[in-house]
Amino acid sequence: MALLEKRLESYVLLFSLLFSTIFYPVSTRGDGEQTQPAYDYRFEEAVAESRMHRGINIGNALEAPREGEWGVYIRDEYFRIIREAGFDTVRIPIRWSAHAENNPPYRIDEDFFNRVDRVVNKSLEQGLITIINIHHYEEIMQDPLGHRDRFKALWSQISEHYKDYPETLFFELLNEPYGELTDERWNMLIRETAEIIRRNNPTRKIIVGPTGWNSVYNLKGLVIPEDENIIVTFHFYTPFEFTHQGAEWVSPSPTVGRKWLGTQGEKKQITDELNMAVEWAMQHGNVSLLMGEFGAYSKADMDSRVRWTRFVAREAEKRGIAWCYWEFCAGFGAYDPDKGEWRTELLNALISEKHYVTVETEYGNAFGAGWYDEGTYAPVGINITSWGFYVFDHFEGLGPKDRIIDERTVEIYVDESRMIKAIWRIDYVKLLIIALICFTACAAAILYKKRALRSSLIQKIKHSP
Ligand code: BGC
Repeated sequence: MALLEKRLESYVLLFSLLFSTIFYPVSTRGDGEQTQPAYDYRFEEAVAESRMHRGINIGNALEAPREGEWGVYIRDEYFRIIREAGFDTVRIPIRWSAHAENNPPYRIDEDFFNRVDRVVNKSLEQGLITIINIHHYEEIMQDPLGHRDRFKALWSQISEHYKDYPETLFFELLNEPYGELTDERWNMLIRETAEIIRRNNPTRKIIVGPTGWNSVYNLKGLVIPEDENIIVTFHFYTPFEFTHQGAEWVSPSPTVGRKWLGTQGEKKQITDELNMAVEWAMQHGNVSLLMGEFGAYSKADMDSRVRWTRFVAREAEKRGIAWCYWEFCAGFGAYDPDKGEWRTELLNALISEKHYVTVETEYGNAFGAGWYDEGTYAPVGINITSWGFYVFDHFEGLGPKDRIIDERTVEIYVDESRMIKAIWRIDYVKLLIIALICFTACAAAILYKKRALRSSLIQKIKHSP
């Protein structure tokens, strides 16, 4: 009897072994968890914490020799329009040098101050983080020493004037230093000017950027003061031949017609430069980064501009870099001032709508669910393709633009909130094998039981008197 039990035991063991092998997931992938939403911008929070995320430059207005001369006069309602579109930050370039005396005490014109006050107030009223800078101070690029005192006097007046303004007003020292304003001279000027500002604005954010027109390649030469309220800015127009094609202010102007298709090589050129900025920031006390200008001029084709803008904005966001698009309503404009409406393709590329993509599955786990930008692809799928008697068959809910990547991964085109469902079917071959195993096991068990009975009967007969 003991022998019979042992044999039966080993059959049960063999059977369960086979059974569990068949039931064990065929493959696993990822952590099997549904991911958290990829983006979660909270406008009020960003402003309350003085954290910039998405901004826009109101360019070609106050940095023109006279406001309006370059076709843009800042209207009060622009700030509401900008906030309602989803931006949390506005950068206002200002040519103070054209509105101040040329000799000591370098007094800034009162009417101009009043005008800037109005613009700044309208922006702050909308709860926007507001950056004011010194823009187009060309003279200091040619003669840094000759203009050093004037530059510092300008900041002395600006910082005194705005010292009681909310902390959501940020000061950016100088747009795009270049020329004779070398690293050494610029670093010294940064230190001296920051000291002036700190006398009456102890904690206001001060933004500084490298030489070479705020190029990421010149970050290595930038020395920032030890101050926890410093933000480092850089400008991003890579590849220049694409973003500045046909630009009248560039000589020689890059030829019109160059596209940006988003090839691997084109993307890498951009991510490499963004990574450089991030690495530099990490080596310098994790200083906050701002991509204070980026954009593609309107002479490039709209599809390429949209692709480039979306890619650069998303890649910056992925790296925790705040950005300000260049610019609101002039040559790069995301807003059409004549029609009084946004150029929706560009706006969507900047502040793209996000939709939730989900995957439902009865077996195993789904991966990739979360918030995705409109117009992008969401890579989603399931981590196993086989579970017990079931085998994964296909995804239900795919559209013509979706792409099948491999047997359990698809890329979902995000044009609205999407839900796809993994459809499983019974694996009849597996079922048959299990049935056969069960049948064989039962038959073997019965056979053994019969044999055992028979031999014990024979034994009994043999030993009976
Ligand atoms: C300049 C603009 C120019 C833009 C793109 C800005 O810093 O102030 O005049 O259009 O860069 O080149």
